[in-house]
Amino acid sequence: MIFEGKQETSALLSEAERSILFTAKRPQLVMERGEGMYVWDTEDRRYLDFIGGWAVTCLGHSPQVMIDVLSQQAAHLINVSPAFYNRPMIEFANLLTRISGFQRVFFGSTGAEANESAIKLARKYGSLHKGGAYEIITTTNSFHGRTLATMSATGKAKWQQLFSPSMPGFKHVPLHDMNAMSEAIGPQTCAIMLELIQGEGGVNEVDADYVKELRRRCDDEGILLIFDEIQTGIGRTGKMFAYEHYGIQPDIMTLAKGIGGGFPLSAMLTKEIYNLFDAGDQGGTYTGQPLGMAVGLAVVNEVIRLNLPQHAEEQGNYLLGKLRDVQQTYGLQNIRGKGLMLAFDLPEPLGAELVAACLEEGLIINSPNAHTIRLMPPLIVSKANIDDMITILCHVMDRIRNNEHNPTL
Ligand SMILES: Cc1ncc(COP(=O)(O)O)c(C=O)c1O
Repeated sequence: MIFEGKQETSALLSEAERSILFTAKRPQLVMERGEGMYVWDTEDRRYLDFIGGWAVTCLGHSPQVMIDVLSQQAAHLINVSPAFYNRPMIEFANLLTRISGFQRVFFGSTGAEANESAIKLARKYGSLHKGGAYEIITTTNSFHGRTLATMSATGKAKWQQLFSPSMPGFKHVPLHDMNAMSEAIGPQTCAIMLELIQGEGGVNEVDADYVKELRRRCDDEGILLIFDEIQTGIGRTGKMFAYEHYGIQPDIMTLAKGIGGGFPLSAMLTKEIYNLFDAGDQGGTYTGQPLGMAVGLAVVNEVIRLNLPQHAEEQGNYLLGKLRDVQQTYGLQNIRGKGLMLAFDLPEPLGAELVAACLEEGLIINSPNAHTIRLMPPLIVSKANIDDMITILCHVMDRIRNNEHNPTL
């Protein structure tokens, strides 16, 4: 059913407030449809999307390739239980192993599930090869998911008390502090886990020397290196996988978001020697289900066909240039990131206000903290889209500067 007009929207919003369990503050609008770089709400207002479903809709909204594969596969086979192999599962695993340099894949539905799988595999490795070692070291400001284990892995101090007791077996050290890392590594350590560009932490790139040193230490100590590429993977940073920027490979890599183009899908990849699970150690009702597998296969093939990693690099450089052009006028600081995972800091803590004002003007952006604005548009973004985004952003920053902004959404 298509709802139009303010009345229907307010009716929907009151229903939402009655029935949806509160977990997030959401603006007073209801999203209805999407196409390419745009989404429309129930009042037919159009929004240019520079979040891309949280770095998810890499091919844009409702791309033809996903419409086709979803309808074809749905008519063919949707779910046959994880007890059986299915054709798209095998083809998708083949594709991922071919392009990633890993030999084994486990499929899940969410990023947190992929990270849970990585945590389990690292602990299994510890129990089999490191005398029962189970500790995983992560970095402060990291984000690894919202299940209890991945919350404990996440390097947010606040989260360690939330839903306490937190899961034991995680240590957090400051990013780039090799001394702290060396102190944290002990006989119980089985793995180090990190994002190569911290996404939710505010788009913080990890130095190449630090990553190389981590690889060296892991090799020396016989512990696993896990890269959480849930946000950085599938072309987002200008390479298919962010680890390619660093010239070293982890032992385990997790993917989600872009891998399904908006369909809930994730993967954990590892090397042949870490094919260590016994039957039943890891699984799930939806692991490797044909519908998701067919979608993932089509999405990743399309990313390759359109050479979107290179496109992301080019468009990202163009966007960086445009931000630098207006940097002085608006006092923007620390413009940063790689490919289409970019951010900048505001001179004042007005992130939430800027996001709300941009939304009113038909632009979706994100503020991971009060000082920071993050941009992660679909990988298909064009220069014209970037020009439009910059025009709206500057207009909104002018309004805020002149105290003309009065939020209504
Ligand atoms: C780096 C990283 N890891 C894990 C996750 C969790 O993924 P999901 O929300 O699909 O569980 C996210 C989500 O934002 C992420 O950015």
